Amino acid sequence: MPACVWKLLLLLYLVAVTVQGECVPKMIPKTESPVCVCNVLYCDTIAPVERVLSSKYVLYTTSKSGKRLQRDVQSFTNNITRSTIIELDIKKEYQTIIGWGGAITDSVGINIRNLSTETQKKLLKSYFSDEGLEYNLIRVPIGGTDFSIHNYTYDDGIEDAELAHFSLAKEDLEYKIPVLKLANTYSNNTLQLLGSSWYAPNWMQTHNNTKRGYIKRSMYQVWADYHIKFLKSYKEYGLGFWAITTGNEPVDSSSYVKWHAKPIGIWIASNLGPAIRNSEFSNIEILIMDDSRSSLPWFVDRAFSYKDAKKYIQGIAVHWYGDETFPPKLLDVTHNRHPDKFILYTEACVTKKQVGIHQGSWRFAESYARDILQNLNHWCTGWIDWNIALNMEGGPTFTHNEVHSPIFVNTTKDEFYKQPMYYILGHFSKFILQSSVRIEHKCTNKNLAVVALKRPDGGIVIVVLNKSNKKIPVTINVEKGKYINLNVMAKSIITIIYW
Ligand SMILES: *[C@@H]1O[C@H](CO)[C@@H](O)[C@H](O)[C@H]1NC(C)=O
Ligand SMILES: *[C@@H]1O[C@H](CO)[C@@H](O)[C@H](O)[C@H]1NC(C)=O
Ligand SMILES: *[C@@H]1O[C@H](CO)[C@@H](O)[C@H](O)[C@H]1NC(C)=O
Ligand SMILES: *[C@@H]1O[C@H](CO)[C@@H](O)[C@H](O)[C@H]1NC(C)=O
Ligand SMILES: *[C@@H]1O[C@H](CO)[C@@H](O)[C@H](O)[C@H]1NC(C)=O
Ligand SMILES: *[C@@H]1O[C@H](CO)[C@@H](O)[C@H](O)[C@H]1NC(C)=O
Ligand SMILES: *[C@@H]1O[C@H](CO)[C@@H](O)[C@H](O)[C@H]1NC(C)=O
Repeated sequence: MPACVWKLLLLLYLVAVTVQGECVPKMIPKTESPVCVCNVLYCDTIAPVERVLSSKYVLYTTSKSGKRLQRDVQSFTNNITRSTIIELDIKKEYQTIIGWGGAITDSVGINIRNLSTETQKKLLKSYFSDEGLEYNLIRVPIGGTDFSIHNYTYDDGIEDAELAHFSLAKEDLEYKIPVLKLANTYSNNTLQLLGSSWYAPNWMQTHNNTKRGYIKRSMYQVWADYHIKFLKSYKEYGLGFWAITTGNEPVDSSSYVKWHAKPIGIWIASNLGPAIRNSEFSNIEILIMDDSRSSLPWFVDRAFSYKDAKKYIQGIAVHWYGDETFPPKLLDVTHNRHPDKFILYTEACVTKKQVGIHQGSWRFAESYARDILQNLNHWCTGWIDWNIALNMEGGPTFTHNEVHSPIFVNTTKDEFYKQPMYYILGHFSKFILQSSVRIEHKCTNKNLAVVALKRPDGGIVIVVLNKSNKKIPVTINVEKGKYINLNVMAKSIITIIYW
């Protein structure tokens, strides 16, 4: 074919997908599933969810073979034709959903701000707008993390118990704050920010061999005040926080601030709790733990055993690392002991150490889906992913801890690539609105993972993941005489919504 014909065909194709907002797929050699290419000219979109007639339901499908939140409107039928049955009990209610989101670290800010203005807009709209995933939560590091380009806190140098030298970093002013403001501009939600600290100034910490890395007893109040200073500084830039955690990974970490369970209870009851509640930020929620399931329930139990610690805490923050090893029963036990504290997942990613960095991985996308479905069925009220955009190597990271992200960016080319994981997250975030309530379901086939929820607008959302390599024919029993009959494709995830 002559080159001009090719070009014409390509142009027609691009016009066609542009009109529909569909994925421009790119199959990267040796990977499992296509990525969707976005740049200054084009990015795929997901239309806002629209109510349909009560005789109909909407089916969204994402598959390894390349479907990306593909929308089909179907009618209910009045007969049961499939062998696997999913039954709902909308009267039996469980937890209320807080929401979905990702983290805006220094590295994310650097990657995004290094794109052209129009490409930045396309990326942030992909996550926060009503034509994207509609995230409503953002985790914001208090100072540096391993996803920074150097190690810093807001008060490095000589001891400064008055925090007189506390100041935000270049990273806040040039990267995180501008990106947070843009996210706010494109969102139809009220974005809820969650702050977490990683590193403390050297002078606040112990340096005695095995005791290295803990906050010195004499610095407990200063470390609490440091958090207040952070909240004040962001407020000056017009950014209010919904919540903070008591610090990232106090149990597992080798280099972040470490805590034993009893002392963190003392710090919460004597310093952090009173400092927050007596400040202008008295309504901010405080989430304890911010670490893996493996520390449940003992870490929380022990911290709460100290006097008033429990009364200052509203939620329990959990990271997904090790979820394949430690059973979800630990979430149930934690919930049953502390039913008034919500459980929220606040970090997840696939690390390079495990597997290398891969574009277009279906396996990782599916592991996210499996984990979210499992957690939702065990009292989890939402999920916050780790970095929302990393460079093609999974960084930058000054500790060389490269990891995966639902969006990889190539700033040289001013382009970004939405991974299958991005669409998998959308199967939850775009449909399971804040204040949705999980309802009871039963499923007769163990190869399907299922969750069902009722939205505040009365809509019912059902998410089904086919974990097997076989097509599974399913009937969903909506009510007597009203059924959904479908085949859940192999290696696919579906979201069904109806009103
Ligand atoms: C079930 O109902 C649909 C229409 O609602 C009809 O097309 C189909 O033939 C019926 N199947 C059986 C097995 O009765
Ligand atoms: C979201 O906000 C935009 C801009 O203000 C508006 O055009 C759009 O209709 C809103 N979408 C929804 C679903 O409310
Ligand atoms: C970063 O700095 C803090 C405080 O000085 C120190 O405790 C920590 O070990 C450092 N981490 C890394 C990875 O260099
Ligand atoms: C360091 O820790 C050891 C053992 O806990 C203790 O005996 C020693 O006094 C500590 N040294 C300092 C300087 O705190
Ligand atoms: C920004 O992108 C350019 C390439 O366009 C790259 O050379 C540079 O390192 C990037 N800057 C940062 C801070 O990542
Ligand atoms: C990023 O894009 C540039 C320019 O097209 C290309 O040379 C480079 O190989 C790309 N980087 C990666 C990691 O794909
Ligand atoms: C699950 O996947 C397998 C293999 O891909 C497929 O044959 C089967 O039909 C799927 N099940 C459902 C319910 O779609």
